[in-house]
Amino acid sequence: MVKSREIATPFYLYDRDRIIKNIAKLTKYFSRCNARIFFAVKANTSLSVLEIIRKAGVGAEVVSPGEVFICLKAGFAPKDILYNNIARKEEEVLYAVKKGVVYYNFEAIDQALLLEKCARRLKREIKLFARINPGIFPETHPHLSTGARSSKFGIECERLEDVAVVARRLHWARFVGIHSHIGSQILSPTPFIKGVKKVMELIEFFRSKDIAVEYINLGGGFGIPYHPKETELDFKPIVRAYKRLGEQYRVKIFLEPGRFLVGNAGYIIATVISVKQRQRRPLYIIDAGMTENPRPALYNAYHHIEAFFSKKKKEKKVRVAGPLCENSDEFGLFSLPPLKPGDRVIIHNCGAYTRTMASNYNGRLLPAEYLYDRKNFVLIRKREQFRTLINNELY
Ligand code: LLP
Repeated sequence: MVKSREIATPFYLYDRDRIIKNIAKLTKYFSRCNARIFFAVKANTSLSVLEIIRKAGVGAEVVSPGEVFICLKAGFAPKDILYNNIARKEEEVLYAVKKGVVYYNFEAIDQALLLEKCARRLKREIKLFARINPGIFPETHPHLSTGARSSKFGIECERLEDVAVVARRLHWARFVGIHSHIGSQILSPTPFIKGVKKVMELIEFFRSKDIAVEYINLGGGFGIPYHPKETELDFKPIVRAYKRLGEQYRVKIFLEPGRFLVGNAGYIIATVISVKQRQRRPLYIIDAGMTENPRPALYNAYHHIEAFFSKKKKEKKVRVAGPLCENSDEFGLFSLPPLKPGDRVIIHNCGAYTRTMASNYNGRLLPAEYLYDRKNFVLIRKREQFRTLINNELY
């Protein structure tokens, strides 16, 4: 049995039970509206994590042939995979259609035509969702506000007539519904409810044109508390609104949560490697940084940090930074007991958009991943090796 102390840092750690609990929680909420759940794989693509999710009866939402490939490897049936993207190239669509993926969104007229062309060529029937830009500001970081009017995502409401025209012309690729994903890390129910209102208007529009709408994909976006002062998202009003939508319009609801299922089930365990003072405040340099978790540098995100073994010593406000040659490689201010090089810390909420956005910047090797499963630390992906850094080079 591996002891966590014996594992070299930094490493990612995922808690199996926590993933299962998160899935059960969300499934319970949305069972009231008979929603079908697809995990937004971009949040975490580790095969062992995907296997847990698949076994819990959840499908997969993917955004690239690479993610289709990973999901098939993780055992998802093609019929349980939903493929979204702002735009795809012909070979990408052909790959997914050949593999048997059935559900696709489109975010431009040219993309609907491309999907039709590929489905016709392969003589496979596929189902399409139109993603319309709802023009809603989702009360989150601007980088994560995909529903905002200025965002690049979705088709502008001004072009709805064109969508109706193309929907009628589709044959192999059948128009079946509307896709709406307003943003990510949203902690207020209000934007979700606004999103439902917009979707209702859209259903009315298509039905007024005699175009059937059978499915609504309401996306993901359910936020998690990253900061101890943040409170959990109140799902009750969201479930009520989604239920009303399903019943009133007799549509089947799809959801594609990513972060909510895995975010709080992942950690990075790191070691303090240097301690110094900066403007009379202790500054701890740890062996994980923006390469392992780029969220603080990208979105100014807060990831709670604690001493791995609580020392019960008086805590002090200290700065914690990574070891990379970048000023933005800093986690922020935390209350920590006095630590010395060699002491370990735990970085919370690293299960979503952390390993999947990691990089080899500064010649760093991506760390190993472990699954905490029935009180065991199980190695699920090995640490990269130096040769990873020159793989595929023709030298
Ligand atoms: N559906 C669509 C169409 C999406 O674009 C996304 C996320 C999701 C579902 C899942 O959203 P979630 O439930 O995880 O909020 N890298 C950023 C997050 C980017 C989200 C991109 N799209 C971060 O680290 O916060």
